[in-house]
Amino acid sequence: MALRVYRNYDALSHAAAAEIVLQIKQNPISVLCLAAGETPRLTYNLLPEIADKEGVDFSRCRFVGLDEWLGIPDTNEGSCAWFLRENLFAPLNIAPRQINLFDGMTKDPAEECRRMSRRIVDCGGIDLMLVGIGLNGHIGFNEPGVSEDAHVHVTELDETTRSVGQKYFREATVLQRGITLGLRHLLESRKAFMMAAGAKKAGIIRLALEGSITTKVPASILRKHACGDVLLDSEAASMLTVI
Ligand code: GLP
Repeated sequence: MALRVYRNYDALSHAAAAEIVLQIKQNPISVLCLAAGETPRLTYNLLPEIADKEGVDFSRCRFVGLDEWLGIPDTNEGSCAWFLRENLFAPLNIAPRQINLFDGMTKDPAEECRRMSRRIVDCGGIDLMLVGIGLNGHIGFNEPGVSEDAHVHVTELDETTRSVGQKYFREATVLQRGITLGLRHLLESRKAFMMAAGAKKAGIIRLALEGSITTKVPASILRKHACGDVLLDSEAASMLTVI
């Protein structure tokens, strides 16, 4: 695992955007799994301009979803699907055939898990994952205590996730379950980046990077990844003792 610390959110976002562009340059048919959430928002907003400048073509790559709130339709602004559509797919003109997201309104979550697992196998596995970290250490919706061997699964959201998750919604929303790629997908991806920004993430970043490697802090599992890097701004890195 390599740790990279940038002076601020802007520099961090430029670095993450450059990694995505590099991936597409090296392999235009890459399979990407990019998180929703506040952290990567600027990264995605920077992509069209960088891609344009560098002549990078996103028309052949594929996207798979990382996670989704169960029971929330993709027409809700708080859904991961909405976020990705607005911030990533529409600005980059990504065609619907390139996109495979979870259906948060599925009547059969177990089948939805199988469908996404099959999809990932069919497209040859994930080339690049870009993930964030929750205040409880989760990645996607891999909540503390999740199995390291889990692939796609449905999860009961923990208290922190339910309350922190309110920030994505216009009005108070009941958030009970999520559907997510598992930590096994993270470990099986060919390359993975975890991003974090802001002082509020400093405590959990320290636990994830300097505490034990344990599924009690799911993000710590990234340290087992042969090609898994952590990208932080200086505030998120402020409690690390190695800096
Ligand atoms: C959310 C999502 C994750 C996201 C993480 C951090 O609940 N399930 O996919 O990466 O928590 O979110 P943010 O970037 O908004 O802090």
